[in-house]
Amino acid sequence: MVAATSTAEGWSSRSAFILAAIGAAVGLGNLWRFPTLAGESGGGAFVIFYIGCVVLLGLPLLLAEIFIGRAGQTDAVGSIKVVARESRVSERWWLFGGLGAMAAFLIVSFYSVVAGWVLYYVGVFAADFGSALMAGDPFRGALAGESQEQIAGRMGDLFANPTLLLAMHFAFMGVTLFIVARGISGGIEKAATWLMPAFFVLLISITIYGAIVGDVGEAAAFLFTPDWSKLTPEVMNSALGQALFSLSLGVAGIITYGSYIREGTKLGSTAVAIAFADTGVALLAGLMIFPIVFAVGLDPAAGPTLVFQTLPFAFESMPAGSLIGLLFFVLILVAAVTSSISLLEVPTAWGVGQMGWSRTTSALVFGGSAFVIGIFCLLGYNVLSDVRPLGFWSIFAETDILDTVDGFTGKVMLPLGALAASLFVGWKADRRLLETTTGLSGGAFAVWRFLLAWLCPLAVSIILVTGLFPSVLG
Ligand code: PHE
Repeated sequence: MVAATSTAEGWSSRSAFILAAIGAAVGLGNLWRFPTLAGESGGGAFVIFYIGCVVLLGLPLLLAEIFIGRAGQTDAVGSIKVVARESRVSERWWLFGGLGAMAAFLIVSFYSVVAGWVLYYVGVFAADFGSALMAGDPFRGALAGESQEQIAGRMGDLFANPTLLLAMHFAFMGVTLFIVARGISGGIEKAATWLMPAFFVLLISITIYGAIVGDVGEAAAFLFTPDWSKLTPEVMNSALGQALFSLSLGVAGIITYGSYIREGTKLGSTAVAIAFADTGVALLAGLMIFPIVFAVGLDPAAGPTLVFQTLPFAFESMPAGSLIGLLFFVLILVAAVTSSISLLEVPTAWGVGQMGWSRTTSALVFGGSAFVIGIFCLLGYNVLSDVRPLGFWSIFAETDILDTVDGFTGKVMLPLGALAASLFVGWKADRRLLETTTGLSGGAFAVWRFLLAWLCPLAVSIILVTGLFPSVLG
């Protein structure tokens, strides 16, 4: 079903799509946010509830977004219009594609800033490993001789230095823009097919390393032994939101990537493979980080600094900590690149499909403006540290610039996009079109449609309401 507005470009194979979509899904969300949240929320109950969210909500929505893109064959807005037309419902549903493109654009602006921190730590560990090599002791621990305060202090120093933050943000956004401007087969697909295998080799190697030098038993007990009393409404809310974010849902990213699928109808098993890989990486990230944290007796609930302060200190007393630390931050950086390109691709595809711009122009327009918004985000840690952009709104009253963009997209835009997508595909899309495009039938089709039509809207509405009005949780 190729629409007249079909974009010329496409994935070269089904596995290319799967790899690129896994690259989009696996990112800072898996390696930084998931371990942070699991650590803060007390582990097991959060993790088990999270897995339930992925299976019951994430998977149906993932398939719904792939379906829209596959059936529409153009940018998110155009694809929704195609599906609406063929289903004889209002084309105004395109609005949630526009909302998603806007959300993806805002997310990439701060995502690049956070990835910039990772880039800085790659530099710190590269320098450290370099000096270990020069000293003829390549397998020494990281940052030898520094105190815990000194190691933790690096993050504060970085945040106090706008020039350094800006340089890192510039470099990361530049790479993202470059790849997106090169297009699907020459840019995004190539990046995914080179980077994702490297990513998995690194991930598995560091996890094995953690199992050897660290305390895997304690980490596994922490991650998988549920203490249900820790499953508060707040924890459930963050698990649900995290499941959507981690699977790249609600921001039209998967619709956009799905629109480059040219053949094959096995969309169901494709969605399962993507969700399985994304969740597997999040769990492996936990099994990689916590054994090392526990081996040194550190606190798993450090929050967002877990990866940037706790772990570097743990690497100090680990054999080959300098080398492993370097590989660890390279791993996160690789994951971040393959995700940021998928974020920038959403508005870029919109500019190409709806505005008729060339790909390069569109990528420059959106990558350039996201870069500027990112500058405000990073200045929020130093010169603009008093600014509270949505300070009039009680839930954002104390929130700095970056966290406001993050919070607004995550609490408002992303759930709205996910809600609209589930209602649109669950209730409005033509049944024949759904069946022929997804290749699903019988029981599997009925279960999918039921989850999409009923459970997803209900659960996502709950995240939306409890996120915006935390007081309802008491
Ligand atoms: N899923 C990515 C992550 O886990 C983030 C992302 C969200 C990417 C939405 C694309 C679209 O880091």
